[in-house]
Amino acid sequence: MTERAPLAMRLRHGAHLVWRFLGSLPPWGPSPAAERFVRARLDPAEWDLWRTLSGPDRRHALGVARRAEAAGAGPDGVAAALLHDVGKLESGLGTGGRVIATLVGLGLGHRRAVTTLTTKGGFPGRCGRYLDHARLGGELLRRAGARPLATAWAREHHDPPGAGSVPADLARVLRAADGD
Ligand SMILES: [Fe+2]
Ligand SMILES: [Fe+2]
Repeated sequence: MTERAPLAMRLRHGAHLVWRFLGSLPPWGPSPAAERFVRARLDPAEWDLWRTLSGPDRRHALGVARRAEAAGAGPDGVAAALLHDVGKLESGLGTGGRVIATLVGLGLGHRRAVTTLTTKGGFPGRCGRYLDHARLGGELLRRAGARPLATAWAREHHDPPGAGSVPADLARVLRAADGD
């Protein structure tokens, strides 16, 4: 969502974020059976990173991966779905802080908020890293030696399909599965 998006689109996006916020409140992670589903689809280094996500982030990733798999994404696409938000690890923000960061991003515009906040320490810096989670997730995955598609999709998952290196058809499937 860019700062140039029409007001109605920004409001719809805001309502979607509120809905996602309510769904993210329970702190628990996926069931053991669901975690076995994940483990079977990730390389060991990818799994080590995935399992450090918070319970709500693991539930979100699992839901995205299941929808992506049902929509025909192949093994690399499903792994990319599981790992797309891994950069949120870098922010250290809980649900309440993420809401504030999201509102700041909507108010200031994403690029300006990232530029302004990531140079700061404390809570503002964490908000900046949360808003910059796509780029940071790509870096985390590259350093961990994750498969190239997962690394690319983490970096590009908030960009328009076809704007980056992930093929547009797959990007559309993954984007729809993510609900953004
Ligand atoms: Fe994301
Ligand atoms: Fe996501």
